[in-house]
Amino acid sequence: MTYSRIIGTGSYLPDNVVSNQDLEKFVDTSDQWIQERTGIKQRHIASDGETTCDLAERAARNAMEAAGKGPKDIDLIVLATTTPDQVFPSTACLLQSRLDIHGCAAFDVQAVCTGFIYALGVADNFIRSGSARCALVIGAETFSRILNWEDRTTCVLFGDGAGAVVLEASDEPGILSTHLHADGDYANMLEVPDGVSKGYDRMRANAAFVEMRGAEVFKMAVNTLGRIVDETLEKNRLQKSDVDWLIPHQANIRIIHATARKLHMPMERVVVTVAEHGNTSAASVPLAFDTAVRDGRIQRGETLLMEAFGGGFTWGSVLARY
Ligand code: COA
Repeated sequence: MTYSRIIGTGSYLPDNVVSNQDLEKFVDTSDQWIQERTGIKQRHIASDGETTCDLAERAARNAMEAAGKGPKDIDLIVLATTTPDQVFPSTACLLQSRLDIHGCAAFDVQAVCTGFIYALGVADNFIRSGSARCALVIGAETFSRILNWEDRTTCVLFGDGAGAVVLEASDEPGILSTHLHADGDYANMLEVPDGVSKGYDRMRANAAFVEMRGAEVFKMAVNTLGRIVDETLEKNRLQKSDVDWLIPHQANIRIIHATARKLHMPMERVVVTVAEHGNTSAASVPLAFDTAVRDGRIQRGETLLMEAFGGGFTWGSVLARY
C-alpha cells in the first residue's frame, strides 16, 4: 500500500504588518473589539505589486529546502487560492515556471478557506493511486485585494500569506485520511458576489469584495467543524486522546476554542497563529503547521488533525502521522 508522507513544510508572510491600532485610524473599530471577538492582533498585507505567486514561491522554496527536494523531484503542483494572480494561467503554472519545474501537472483548486485541505486531499489521492510520487502543495492568498477597507465587519478579519508542504510516496503513513465536503446552498452567506463571467455590477459599490453574514457563518463553522472531528476520528477508529496536535483553520480564536473543547484538547496541543496574521484563507493551516514544525512543537511520529471551513460552504479535515 502506498501512502503520502509530509516530508517538508514552509511558509511566508509579507513584510508589511498592519496592527489593529493601524486599522483604528481609517475604520470605526478598536483593538479591544477585534481582540475580544476574534483573537487577531495584526495581519500582514502584500505590498503593491506583490502577488499571490510571489508569496507562494517563498513558501514553496522553504518547504522544498526543508524536504531536501529540488525542481526535478517534484512531479505534481496543487495550489489552493481564491486570489490568483491572473484569470489564467493558473497560479500553479506561474509558480511552476518560477521554480524551474517543467512538464508535471500543475493546477489551482478553489475552496476558499478550505482550499489547502482540498489541495492536500487531491495530492494525497494522486500519490496513493500512483499518479505522482512527490507533490508540492501550497495555500497562498492576497486576500487583502478582495476586501472592502470601509467595511469594518470584514476588513479587520483577513490577511495575506502562504504556506506549503512537500508530500512524498511512502510505504508508511503519512496521511491517514482526508475528508472533503461542500454545500453550495450556503453560497450567499460568505461570498464575493461579482466575477468574470457574471460581470461586475457597477451600480453596486464594492460588489467585487467579500460580503459575509458573520454571526451565521460563526454558528455554522462551530457546528460543522465539531461534526468533521467526529467523522475523522470514527473513520480511523481513534479516540480523541489519540490526536497529538490540532492544527485548525485560523479564522477566529473563539471558533478554535470551540473545536478544541469538542476534542477535549488542552490549548497547549492546539496550534494557534491567528493573532499574528488573521484569517489568511487557504494559507492559514499550512502557515500554522509550518510555525509549529519550525519551533519544534510538532515532532515526527505524532498524530495531527488539520481542519478548515470556508465559503461555499466548504469544509474538510486531514488526519496525518507526521
Ligand atoms: N469593530 C467594532 N464593532 C464592530 C466591528 C468592528 N470591526 N464589526 C462589527 N461590529 C459591531 C456590529 O456592528 C455590531 O454592532 P451592533 O450590535 O450595534 O449592531 C456588534 O459589533 C456585534 O456584531 P456581531 O456581528 O453580532 O458580532 P459577533 O460577536 O458575531 O462577531 C465576527 C463578529 C465577524 C467576529 C463573528 O461573527 C465571526 O467571527 N464570524 C465568523 C467569521 C469568519 O470566521 N469567517 C470566515 C470563515 S472561513
